[in-house]
Amino acid sequence: MSGFSADWLALREPYDRAARSTVVLDAVKSAFADRSSLSMVDLACGTGSTLRALTKHLPVRQQWRLADNDLGLLLRAGQTSIPGVKVTTVPIDLARDLEAALDGPIEIVTTSALLDLVSPAWLERFVFETAARKLPVYAALSYDGRISLDPSDPLDAKIIAAVNKHQRTDKGFGPALGPAAVAEAIGHFERLGYSVVQATSDWVFGPDDRNVQLEIVAGWASAARDIGDLSLGDIANWLVRRREIIAAGRSSIRVGHVDFFALPPDMR
Ligand SMILES: C[S@@+](CC[C@H](N)C(=O)[O-])C[C@H]1O[C@@H](n2cnc3c(N)ncnc32)[C@H](O)[C@@H]1O
Repeated sequence: MSGFSADWLALREPYDRAARSTVVLDAVKSAFADRSSLSMVDLACGTGSTLRALTKHLPVRQQWRLADNDLGLLLRAGQTSIPGVKVTTVPIDLARDLEAALDGPIEIVTTSALLDLVSPAWLERFVFETAARKLPVYAALSYDGRISLDPSDPLDAKIIAAVNKHQRTDKGFGPALGPAAVAEAIGHFERLGYSVVQATSDWVFGPDDRNVQLEIVAGWASAARDIGDLSLGDIANWLVRRREIIAAGRSSIRVGHVDFFALPPDMR
């Protein structure tokens, strides 16, 4: 499965949903509690995971603009049907046309699993453009660099180091911030007077979550291969050992994420 394939997004969605911070979701909910309707844009929507996770926390009437540059994912996202919720899809390259995605009658910006893909310059532009429109921002599931595996393996630390190095490679927005993105985003918003509620939203995979763990370790092995700091033999042997432990139902993995909700100064 590729990084953004519909199959991978479907596999991870229930774990994403369980991981999303209820503290941050409650902050979003209470910010709009007195509203009867709300218009939002979800940046890099994939198949609409954030829409599905957020609708029940928001006013009954909702207008969602879903933005992504993958037409196949957008097609699926546009098929999401929830009573009271109007969905429009916008094919757009956010690296180039972020501003166009934010223009118009938008009252909150949402995104998930995007910020760790972007460059420092794009992140600064994103914060500036949302602040210039006085928009609140809900950003979920940014990877923060923490990974723990149980049982541990002597090569884990080197594989994790390679994964985190790979996180910083270009994902279409310039060299990515990877694990540094979420702290940097929060810092930018706070310097502009936003109040930010943040909390961890780690993926927690238990011994029975075999399929998702198998995908994750395969993805990490492939990232380590791309980076080239470890020998192919070492990476392959690590993957074999990990797969055996997962198949035996003895593996647990935690992957660190952070969610935040940033509220502009005059909405506090
Ligand atoms: C990790 S997925 C997250 C999808 C969704 N937000 C979720 O949580 O399931 C990253 C998304 O970013 C989108 N994406 C990547 N680069 C993009 C770009 N330059 N413009 C618009 N979308 C982009 C991908 O198509 C994919 O849907």
